Amino acid sequence: MRAKGDNAGPEWVPEAFGVGAGAGGTVEASRASVVRLMVPTDANFTGNVFGGAILGEIDRVAYVTASRHAATQCVTASFDRADFIAPVHVGELVDFDACLTYVGRASMEVWVRVQAEPLSGGPRRLVVEAYVTMVAVDPTMRPTPVPPLRLANDAERRRFEEGRVRMEERRRTRGPRPR
Ligand SMILES: CC(C)(COP(=O)(O)OP(=O)(O)OC[C@H]1O[C@@H](n2cnc3c(N)ncnc32)[C@H](O)[C@@H]1OP(=O)(O)O)[C@@H](O)C(=O)NCCC(=O)NCCS
Repeated sequence: MRAKGDNAGPEWVPEAFGVGAGAGGTVEASRASVVRLMVPTDANFTGNVFGGAILGEIDRVAYVTASRHAATQCVTASFDRADFIAPVHVGELVDFDACLTYVGRASMEVWVRVQAEPLSGGPRRLVVEAYVTMVAVDPTMRPTPVPPLRLANDAERRRFEEGRVRMEERRRTRGPRPR
C-alpha cells in the first residue's frame, strides 16, 4: 500500500477516511438521487422553471455524491456545459441522479442526469445532463486525496476512461489563474 502523499493510484487506500472508503468506494456507494417538486418560486411568470434552479440542485446532488465518496469537505471546481434540451414546468417532479464517473487524486467527476415528469403521471423526459467537478479539500481548503473509485463493470470502466479524457481536457484548457 502506498502512503497518502504519494498520489492516488488504483492501489492507494487511505487509512484516514471512514465513510467513503468504508462505504466501499464504489459508484453505487456514493450515488445520490433527489426528487423535487417544482413550485412557483422556482419559475418565472409563465410557469417555466429557471435554469438556475435546476443548476443549483445539480450542484447540491453532485456535492452529496462527492462528499459520500471523499468523506471530507468538497468544493465545486467546475461545471461543464449544461444544455437544456426540454423545458420544466411548475407542478412537475424533477429527478436528479448523480454518480461518479472519474476520480483523480483530489478531483471527482460527477455525472448528473435530470429527468422531469408531470406530477399527475406521464412520460419522463430527459431535461439536462451535466458533468460537475468536485475537489476534496482539507480544513485549510487545500486539495486533499480521495479514495480510488472501485469499478464494478465494463460500463463503469468505460465511463472512467471517458472521464479521464475529459479531465485532461479541462486541465489543458484551464490555463493560468489571473493575478
Ligand atoms: C477547486 C480548488 C480547491 C482547486 O485548488 P487548486 O489549488 O487550484 O488545486 P490544484 O491545481 O492543486 O488541483 C487540485 C485538483 O483539482 C482539479 N481542479 C482544479 N481546478 C479545477 C477546475 N477549474 N476544474 C476541474 N478540476 C479542477 C485539478 O485538476 C486537480 O485534480 P487532481 O488532484 O485529481 O489531479 C480551488 O480553486 C478553490 O478553492 N476554488 C473555489 C471552490 C469553491 O469555493 N466553489 C464554490 C463556489 S461558490
